[in-house]
Amino acid sequence: SFTRDGKNLNSTSRTAPPFAFAFDIDGVLLHVAKPIPGATETLEYLQRHDIPFILLTNGGGKHERERVEDLSKRLGVPLSTENFVQSHTPFQELVHGSWSQGHIDGHTQLELQNGNGISGFADKNILITGSDPAKSRRIAETYGFRSVITPADILAAHPATFPFEPLLKTHYAATARPLPSPNPKIDAIFVFNDPRDWALDTQIITDLLLSQNGVLGTYSSKNGHAEYENHGWQVDNQPGLYFSNPDLFWSAAYHLPRFGQGAFQAALAGIWNQITGGKAEMKRTTIGKPCARTYGYAESVLARWRAELSKRSGRADPEAEAQPLTRVYMVGDNPESDIRGANEYSSPQGTEWASILVRTGVWNKDRDGEPKHKPTAVVDDVKSAVGWALEREG
Ligand code: G3P
Ligand code: MG
Repeated sequence: SFTRDGKNLNSTSRTAPPFAFAFDIDGVLLHVAKPIPGATETLEYLQRHDIPFILLTNGGGKHERERVEDLSKRLGVPLSTENFVQSHTPFQELVHGSWSQGHIDGHTQLELQNGNGISGFADKNILITGSDPAKSRRIAETYGFRSVITPADILAAHPATFPFEPLLKTHYAATARPLPSPNPKIDAIFVFNDPRDWALDTQIITDLLLSQNGVLGTYSSKNGHAEYENHGWQVDNQPGLYFSNPDLFWSAAYHLPRFGQGAFQAALAGIWNQITGGKAEMKRTTIGKPCARTYGYAESVLARWRAELSKRSGRADPEAEAQPLTRVYMVGDNPESDIRGANEYSSPQGTEWASILVRTGVWNKDRDGEPKHKPTAVVDDVKSAVGWALEREG
């Protein structure tokens, strides 16, 4: 059991603890959809003692409600969308806002701009792809995007777009919708989670990055012309390209790590490099761990959730309850995403993000050596991670 069990944690007059947890899912709570030993017990313990936590995953492809329902069943613990962030969850900020580069504490990170006449993509045409593009479209529509196009729609309207037999032919035929116009202008491209049909998606995304003004079927006259900025590449009002998860690898059923969405991004960028003769890097925006936007988003979700837990617990010290968190423990299995992100994130509230690396996921010391991004602690599994943190917090 946990070292801190019983100690100062059962009184109802206490205030909310000044620390909280953020748990990665794949490789920490679950391995190939099955709970990792100790995961259920750990979450139950934290819930019993009103210690706030969120789940922060680079996974996606299901709506938050559906994914939380599924996780609650698998883990046998009631969970809520209010403390859950998956890779594409922060895309909701772009329905009515935009992200721009800002600097916090000398670190470059994306800042959300909204209000003051800034409009998002709510009514703009956006292209979405993912493991199941039709499902990703439904998720995006639930977020508030109103004009979502999938590769299937483009293929149905212009079958010659892709000269080969499409991989998901029946799926595309069953889910295609008419385009808003024969050759619409597309303002943004979102990769919601790991695409399956890399060839079709790569073709369509590349077409749009080469287009004039994002209009399907056009080709920018600036492409490759040195008199323009960036040698003319992506300077003709082409759509912004957004990825939800940079993981090159993740921990799946095979004994060696498997490609994640980051591998798709790398493949696309590799083709772009060939097209531009290495003259221009593919411009894109990536969120998901380790990116700061995702940690900033997670921190605000955690703050709201903590306030909610305080309210539910009926505790009586609103001032203490309103203090920002002193520490968040990010418990993860991937040094490149979970650990790096926590180490590099600089919280505007001054909250410290500590990182705990577990041995139940993608990282394997014998194979990978010391983690490139050094965690605050390395422990066996999620249960030991929480035990270690509770001990440290005294
Ligand atoms: O596709 C999921 C994967 O890249 C990582 O998921 O929960 O380990 O962040 P997670
Ligand atoms: Mg993981």
